[in-house]
Amino acid sequence: MQNIIRQLEEKRDRARKGGGQKRIDTQHSKGKLTARERLELLLDPGSFEEWDMFVEHRCSDFGMQEQSIPGDGVVTGFGTVNGRLIFVFSQDFTVFGGSLSESHAEKICKIMDQAMKVGAPVIGINDSGGARIQEGVASLAGYAEVFQRNVLASGVVPQISMIMGPCAGGAVYSPAMTDFIFMVRDTSYMFVTGPDVVKTVTHEEVTQEELGGAVTHTTTSGVADKAFNNDTEALLYLRRFIDFLPANNREQPPQRPTPDLGDRVEMSLDTLVPDDPSKPYDMNELIHKVVDEGEFFEIQPDYAGNIIVGFARMEGSTIGIVANQPMVLAGCLDISSSIKAARFVRFCDCFNIPIVTFVDVPGFLPGTSQELGGIIKHGAKLLFAYAEATVPKVTLITRKAYGGAYDVMSSKHLRGDVNFAWPTAEIAVMGPKGAVEIIFRGDLGDKKKIEARAEEYRERFANPFIAGHRGFIDDVIMPHNTRVRIAKSLRMLKNKKLDNPWKKHGNIPL
Ligand code: HXC
Repeated sequence: MQNIIRQLEEKRDRARKGGGQKRIDTQHSKGKLTARERLELLLDPGSFEEWDMFVEHRCSDFGMQEQSIPGDGVVTGFGTVNGRLIFVFSQDFTVFGGSLSESHAEKICKIMDQAMKVGAPVIGINDSGGARIQEGVASLAGYAEVFQRNVLASGVVPQISMIMGPCAGGAVYSPAMTDFIFMVRDTSYMFVTGPDVVKTVTHEEVTQEELGGAVTHTTTSGVADKAFNNDTEALLYLRRFIDFLPANNREQPPQRPTPDLGDRVEMSLDTLVPDDPSKPYDMNELIHKVVDEGEFFEIQPDYAGNIIVGFARMEGSTIGIVANQPMVLAGCLDISSSIKAARFVRFCDCFNIPIVTFVDVPGFLPGTSQELGGIIKHGAKLLFAYAEATVPKVTLITRKAYGGAYDVMSSKHLRGDVNFAWPTAEIAVMGPKGAVEIIFRGDLGDKKKIEARAEEYRERFANPFIAGHRGFIDDVIMPHNTRVRIAKSLRMLKNKKLDNPWKKHGNIPL
């Protein structure tokens, strides 16, 4: 018996050592943690239950039968984060470069299937050279099995991808289909074809970092949601992030006790909007002053800054925030911001997270680059997302709500449950200047007349009361009462029930 126990321990030891000390040292020298060190940081101490530690590959080509490491380059199992169940896989770069073999894929699929059965999030820690070259099509098949599960799990359990090393070729498409992608600066990269192939095909010289590093994907391509400075920071933030999410699409968002009461007034909000309507102000200030304890987990903070999206809590319960940012492009909606916000709204709607929308939008961004880039189709994504969302929707117009953008931003007409405006709100088809230049085209030569007309238009339309007369705005509220009124509305909406007509699925403009 003692002997058998010792053998088991030896086998476990072999698996835990992965590709051996030398490769572990190389991993560390690159500033990266190992697959197991990452799990230790992510999970509550002692909570990890590992599965399939003894799985090995079945390849016998290219001398592979002589090289086999238990676990086959990925550590899988389940554990808890702040007491809540999650499933996780962590690729081990020290074993065949974390490359994905048939067996490696089977391990990932097993935990994904189990996560779906019990309704718990799946976290994937990616650090891999891609398809295991020695296994050929078997490894491609393995990727496709993972892809299929990503799709079936989408909208059922939250899926989060941590990119903590290479992620290249078709392998990028698994993270791409998960809900959130977080990357680590300088040590992670994602691309469909690497710099060498790019050079051969297009003759462009580009580094890995420029082509697919964390900065590229969080500022330019919008592929990733947030970048962190190192593995430790990324994993500690991930723990905080998981706290916001329900475990599955049948659960309500988690509740966290807070000393911050719903009836807190915030007098400084009365002076947030400048007197001059063309002056910007920072929408972040409103968000931080309204939500519980000023805690806001922003998604894509470095991309499409004209819209802000992220998670916060009101009276302890998770909400999603979407807010125009007047500091960037005057808060206009453009292609990137529409796509960014549409995806966020859809995530919230999948997972029963109420959406609070703060509106200050002068309209869609004009210009050939927008029109030729397809703003019609991309703007429609956000419109579609808000219109199909059945979660509680509370909207506050702080200042501008002009044109189509007024409709899009969770208006009453898109089944907004509670629509508030501040007294500073201006709700109309377009801004005064643009409006009078069209309807009084004949007076264009007379500057004074045009100015008078614009003033008249401003008086008549640039306020919240025309919309209020029609019931499109439920109430015009004092800025200092914003938290109180939103908290009350969300409380009222706790048991909201609304179903869309039965369909296989809608056809959102992609
Ligand atoms: C098998 C691999 C591997 C792979 C790396 N290794 N990638 N083994 N299959 N795909 C092994 C190496 O042989 C080496 O083994 C160890 O992992 C570490 O690799 P290094 O090259 O020494 O590391 P580094 O210098 O850090 O370079 C990392 C790398 C490079 C940039 C990822 O290894 C690389 O380019 N690998 C190939 C990437 C690739 O083309 N993959 C296929 C993509 S296509 P030893 O024993 O020396 O430690 C794809 C299709 C998916 O993935 C399709 C889905 C539909």
